[in-house]
Amino acid sequence: MSNKQNNKYRKSYELWEKAESLFLNGVQTLSKSPKYITFGSCPTYIDKAKGAYMWDYDGNRYIDYPMALGPIVLGYAFDEVDDAVKEQISKGFLYSLSNRLEIELAELLCDIIPSAEKVKLLKSGSEATSAAVRIARAYTGKEVVAVCGYHGWHDWTVIRTTRNHGVPASLKDLVSEFKYNDLDSLQRVFDRNPGKVAAVILEPVGMYQPENNFLENVAALARKNGALLIFDEIITGFRLDLGGAQSYFSVTPDLSTFGKSMANGYPISVLVGNRDIMNAVEDNVFISSTYGGDLLSITASIKTLEILKKKKVNDYILLLGKKLKDGLNEVIKKNNVSAVCEGMPHKTFLLFDDVGDCSGKMIETLFRQECLEKGVFLGYGQFISFSHTENDIEHSVDIASDAFALIREALDRGNLQSLLKGEISTDVFKRY
Ligand SMILES: Cc1ncc(COP(=O)(O)O)c(C=O)c1O
Repeated sequence: MSNKQNNKYRKSYELWEKAESLFLNGVQTLSKSPKYITFGSCPTYIDKAKGAYMWDYDGNRYIDYPMALGPIVLGYAFDEVDDAVKEQISKGFLYSLSNRLEIELAELLCDIIPSAEKVKLLKSGSEATSAAVRIARAYTGKEVVAVCGYHGWHDWTVIRTTRNHGVPASLKDLVSEFKYNDLDSLQRVFDRNPGKVAAVILEPVGMYQPENNFLENVAALARKNGALLIFDEIITGFRLDLGGAQSYFSVTPDLSTFGKSMANGYPISVLVGNRDIMNAVEDNVFISSTYGGDLLSITASIKTLEILKKKKVNDYILLLGKKLKDGLNEVIKKNNVSAVCEGMPHKTFLLFDDVGDCSGKMIETLFRQECLEKGVFLGYGQFISFSHTENDIEHSVDIASDAFALIREALDRGNLQSLLKGEISTDVFKRY
């Protein structure tokens, strides 16, 4: 195994060997498996993190961009948030009855999020999107869900992926996919399922920005067909704009879900929505969890939202995110590599084309390998936090430029594959 030769990550792979035999998939979060990063040429285990940096067990430091896959919006180990949590710990944080802080957070959310009139606090994004779909089905009395994109790991969301074993096949008929920025594909879902669609769920913005009033048109089409509109704002929420994409684009859904950046990494999510809809179903739906009122995450969320608002963190994230995106596109162009940095500044993505015999995945793997080796974790979904600095961005773009130069040279010489020190990364799953 090539990682054995790679001394830089020796301790990481000693831990990985144990993890592989102990954990289903070797990890708790699939995207954290080295198989999907660059197996053998990436770290696998992180010892500690502070601000925009993290350190692996071999003592290597990285400027981080995945930021724990999005939640770390202020920075790792952010003192103001953690101090508030510590204070709460001393009073207990999970009681036999509810606590005033739950109300405080709900009022804050209703103040910030345009569609929020009533709230349900949960723990993960998957729980929140599943709760939203259940409410939509209960409210409309219909069962089909029109889906665009990733919404978590629950049955209804993975049924149309290659990782759908263990999910009843009968669910396939209840989930119908449509494409982003393709209103006709949504119309086809309604045509195929007349009078049966309970909800349309989508990320208001993901890899691409809405074109030709796509969000307004989706909202109108959903309403015309008696389906509820659900915005999955697990990523956009509190990042693209304090009030999410619904605030940024001025399109208000019936229900929406938030998580990730809500508490700077503490586990919490929320389903929010129209009060009449929630009131109509609340006696008949079952959505309840032991940890919904956990005060560690609630305290962290109140403090995080307060800081996001007070320090105008969203403006900072958009500014630095644009600097990173522009910088990466500039060095891609300079080195004449067939790749692009896409996405709005709150989350950007690097996309690599196939070139001759070299697949895009191969090129992407070499890019990540090279950046990680120089201490920058780029090319795995880029999130900016309040702790990243202009210097971090400039340094990262310089490192990326070196990696693109190496890729150009390797493509010209036809020896790209021989430069890979580990395995070519693969996808967590494919959609069909
Ligand atoms: C858009 C979107 N929705 C839902 C989820 C699921 O959230 P969680 O992993 O917290 O269950 C994710 C997770 O990445 C996501 O990106």
